Amino acid sequence: MATGIQKTRWSGELFPDGVLLPFSKKLMNRTELHYHGKKSVQEIFDGSVADTEIIWKSNSLDANLNTLFWGNNIEILRKLIKDDSVCKKVRLIYIDPPYATNSVFQSTQQSDAYQDLLQGPYYLEFIRERLVLLRELLADDGSIYIHLDDNMAFEVKILLDEVFGKQNFRNWITRRKCSTKNTTKNQYGNVSDYVMFYTKGPEYVWNRPVDLWTDEKIVKEYPCVDPLNGRRYKKVPIHAPGTRNGETGQPWRGMLPPRGKHWQYTPIRLDEMDANGEIYWSPSNNPRRKIYFDPESGIPKQDIWLEYRDSINQNVKVTGYPTEKNLCMLELIVQASSNPGDLVLDCFCGSGTTLYAAYLHERNWIGIDNSFEAICCTLKRFHLGTHSMGDYVKPNQKEHFTFELLDPSHFSPSLFPPCPLTLEVQEEFTSIAEEKLFHVH
Ligand SMILES: C[S@@+](CC[C@H](N)C(=O)[O-])C[C@H]1O[C@@H](n2cnc3c(N)ncnc32)[C@H](O)[C@@H]1O
Repeated sequence: MATGIQKTRWSGELFPDGVLLPFSKKLMNRTELHYHGKKSVQEIFDGSVADTEIIWKSNSLDANLNTLFWGNNIEILRKLIKDDSVCKKVRLIYIDPPYATNSVFQSTQQSDAYQDLLQGPYYLEFIRERLVLLRELLADDGSIYIHLDDNMAFEVKILLDEVFGKQNFRNWITRRKCSTKNTTKNQYGNVSDYVMFYTKGPEYVWNRPVDLWTDEKIVKEYPCVDPLNGRRYKKVPIHAPGTRNGETGQPWRGMLPPRGKHWQYTPIRLDEMDANGEIYWSPSNNPRRKIYFDPESGIPKQDIWLEYRDSINQNVKVTGYPTEKNLCMLELIVQASSNPGDLVLDCFCGSGTTLYAAYLHERNWIGIDNSFEAICCTLKRFHLGTHSMGDYVKPNQKEHFTFELLDPSHFSPSLFPPCPLTLEVQEEFTSIAEEKLFHVH
């Protein structure tokens, strides 16, 4: 891995292509996407506001905590912006919107779930309008994660830079979404999708996620054992790129740092480290720093996630909703970017994976989806849990999920405080739901 050095060390022309200097920093960070039908921000805020369809509503003091909305998210987001208990109070947003796949999706029970037919500029504006409103809802120290695949991720990244500011971009995470594909096309198997992570500003909630060490990883990463104290360590260079005129550029023990480098510490500090046994001397008299293994530390999570595939085998518990995401991945995101008691929002909530992860980690949540199937899946997930996705069904193990089970008294009070659905919504929802019986295998 190469590390750049200070520009003052460059002896040639810095901008040979005739770029005029000094150029504006503001302009440098401002790449805009132009497409047909792009609205002004004001037009986005001024659009219609939902007369909301509240499917479930907690009767806690703060009425908007743990609320599932059934309807078009754009109008509901505008409604939430007008609500002081929500606006600028959302600590974390995760969205997994349609990906412009030009497909329609059904659940494993063959019920229609949702369409993903918007393309090109129509798709981009659909996403941008929501991003503008979501930014408004975020707390100043809040974060947003957007999950997409390679269809539109690149275009949406530019929109995200426009709406949230390039300086607030944190990570482009590559997730392994499925097992290896035995592709017959003349191209590499497509097993990845992407999660883009932005924050609203420079200060944000961050609970550094780590992976646990395994014995194998410890031995691989820290291959040496110190005879002085029996602790495992690895050797790393004691110099860094770039030359220095001060103390760290001077000889130490008669040795200059290698060409183009400087010592990482002053000679006095290096002497102290050597006296403490923190420096390893190679047989050819090359000093290296010892980094000891710290069992408390954990391995900082990186931006390639291989362990959160979706429904990889028949034993995985799922709701059966199409494109349902991996619960452990959502638990990771919820824990990294929010604290207990915080408000988490997913306005494309599908089967409620984000909401359930928020619930598991004692966060409050708001979920929105315009698909009847999605709302039922979310309620079912909270009420009945998930089930193995296998096709095989033992006849007497059929568990029927009927709308009667949505009676609030059937729900665990810790999940939903006992508060009936509003009568009108209950009637409307019942009339649709009665036509459908859900069979959970
Ligand atoms: C990819 S799925 C989300 C899956 C979800 N992450 C999960 O784990 O189950 C996208 C969801 O967006 C919903 N959706 C699409 N357009 C919407 C809109 N305008 N308002 C609300 N929800 C919408 C769809 O109904 C669908 O459930």
